[in-house]
Amino acid sequence: MLKGMRRSIQGVNAYQAGRSLSDVMREYGLEHVVKLGSNENSYGPFPMALQAMAGEIDRVNIYPEENFRRLRILLGQRFGLGQENIGIGHGAGGVLDALSRTFIEEGDEVIVPKQTYGLYREISRLMGAALVEVPLRSYRIDLRDIRDAVTERTKLIWLCNPNNPTGTLFDRELLEPLSDMLPDSAWIIADEAYSEFADPSLLPDTVGMIKQGRNIASVRTFSKYYGLAGARIGYVIGSAELIRVYDTVSEPFNANRTGLAGAVATLRHDREAAEDAANSIRRDREELAGRLRELGCGVVPSEANFLFFSAGHDAAVLSERLVRKGVIVRPCTGWGYPEHIRVTIGTGPENGTFLKALGETLPEQAGES
Ligand SMILES: Cc1ncc(COP(=O)(O)O)c(C=O)c1O
Repeated sequence: MLKGMRRSIQGVNAYQAGRSLSDVMREYGLEHVVKLGSNENSYGPFPMALQAMAGEIDRVNIYPEENFRRLRILLGQRFGLGQENIGIGHGAGGVLDALSRTFIEEGDEVIVPKQTYGLYREISRLMGAALVEVPLRSYRIDLRDIRDAVTERTKLIWLCNPNNPTGTLFDRELLEPLSDMLPDSAWIIADEAYSEFADPSLLPDTVGMIKQGRNIASVRTFSKYYGLAGARIGYVIGSAELIRVYDTVSEPFNANRTGLAGAVATLRHDREAAEDAANSIRRDREELAGRLRELGCGVVPSEANFLFFSAGHDAAVLSERLVRKGVIVRPCTGWGYPEHIRVTIGTGPENGTFLKALGETLPEQAGES
């Protein structure tokens, strides 16, 4: 243990990112690798964002005041709110971290689905929270089970919707009743990183709930739908009071000049390109799901830019074989799903490469078992 380190860090695990292109190329001597393990957007960055970011490089000696303000105004307008309702961060990950520091006191109970985005658990532990883990039901977060886990000591509920890694939505009708029965000091943090890929009629109106003054915040990102994962821009939508505190907790200028310029340009000029890409992703998601079923896989219907499926074989072994063929996917063993894989929907050719590699690999693995 590092001398002097806070005790709560002891039980915290480092975030397990998907495998990187360069590592896989070097390790396996491959020239072409398709990266479908981290739910990025293969269609991004979109053209005007790219141009704006390139044009910003020669100003990186200056702090990014202007675009901080512009981005808040633009996002506020999108949601029928003001800039005082938008907090910016270093990706949704940075936003989530600042929210955990805003709310969690040592010993607070924090409710987290058992099979969800791993960061919630680790940042909560870091703050010394007592974790209450609630298993999914049929691969979905069930808000009735979450409700049953609420006590007087509950401080935060992390809800990923659509859920990573399963791609499912919780029942939107149950969110307001859950919010109604919470203690006054408890908050729901809805992580809606993938919400733009979902059917809007199935999403809860989290922004409406914020406008009603409920204890809920919505976290979103430019990493997925807007294709700017490397630019690291995320944001939180919340009450003016929450955002004031969030800004106090966050370090000053917690997003970089090029990323902010890209996000502003995307919102202003790339909306059509982003929606065209999302349409292709939604269409290919359904097509790929059909092809996976033909291969004998059990596919969970998805509302995100990825699919979660059971391959019927050891997912870690299967993923390793796919990597050797130049396709990175995410085995879900760490979530307690030893035969499930999460695959990002890429471009048509990328999805084709994945399907071909899987079609070759499955029979090999079946032959051995
Ligand atoms: C559910 C969820 N929330 C947040 C993030 C972090 O996104 P960002 O790149 O904006 O930090 C991810 C990234 O994969 C995610 O899956």
